Amino acid sequence: MPERLDKFLTSQNVCSRKEAGKLVRAGLVQINGVQAQSPAQKLEPGRDRVTAEGQEILYRQYLYIMMHKPAGVLSATEDRQAPTVLDLLPPALSRRGLFPAGRLDKNTTGLLIITDDGDFAHRMLSPKSHVYKLYRALLERPVSPEDINAFAGGISQGGTAFAPAKLYALPGEEANAAYVEIREGKFHQVKRMFQAVGNQVLELKRLKIGRLRLDPSLEPGQCKLLEAAETAAIFQQDMAGSAENSPSPGDV
Ligand code: URA
Repeated sequence: MPERLDKFLTSQNVCSRKEAGKLVRAGLVQINGVQAQSPAQKLEPGRDRVTAEGQEILYRQYLYIMMHKPAGVLSATEDRQAPTVLDLLPPALSRRGLFPAGRLDKNTTGLLIITDDGDFAHRMLSPKSHVYKLYRALLERPVSPEDINAFAGGISQGGTAFAPAKLYALPGEEANAAYVEIREGKFHQVKRMFQAVGNQVLELKRLKIGRLRLDPSLEPGQCKLLEAAETAAIFQQDMAGSAENSPSPGDV
């Protein structure tokens, strides 16, 4: 659908609507190599090539952002008291309509996707999509073979039934930690599942969604734009029981 030039520049985070008008009037914006005449000029996003001050603007209909969520920040769009994940976005990635696709608890860290694509978020979060999420939990006590069986069989807690989940114990000095893989996203799910087997989660970090891993170069609070192949990885399944499906030291 054709769009006004100033609206296009604003939606792509180039500048504010007012600044867009100034840029165009200063002759600094081109459409397909021809100087734009008016901020109201129409263009076809994704088809017409737009440059502003000599820089080509790569059109993105939607943004898909990977964030390394730090502790102490809410997975929400706004809150009166606590900072939200949207407050952490750098200006270049801020855009109207962004929201976290799914929630991590305030004290949970790790991989969070922020997007403005509602259909994508719905597909990622729907239990029907069978998208697995991998967490590393620091626990009050080591997991037992009985816990692993209980998770595999599906746990009920406080009237809620959780779908079967995979629990991986860790050896030696790491015995108080475990990996857990779930495909639902019920409220406090991992914490409640451990509670149901008499354990307690002390720290929780999400490492992977589908086949998309948290980028180890992202410090807590940092984020990056995802490319199409990376968002597609969210919906790719590891083969159950394959070596690729087992958490590795790189997951820590
Ligand atoms: N399960 C939890 O208990 N908390 C989270 O933040 C995510 C999964």
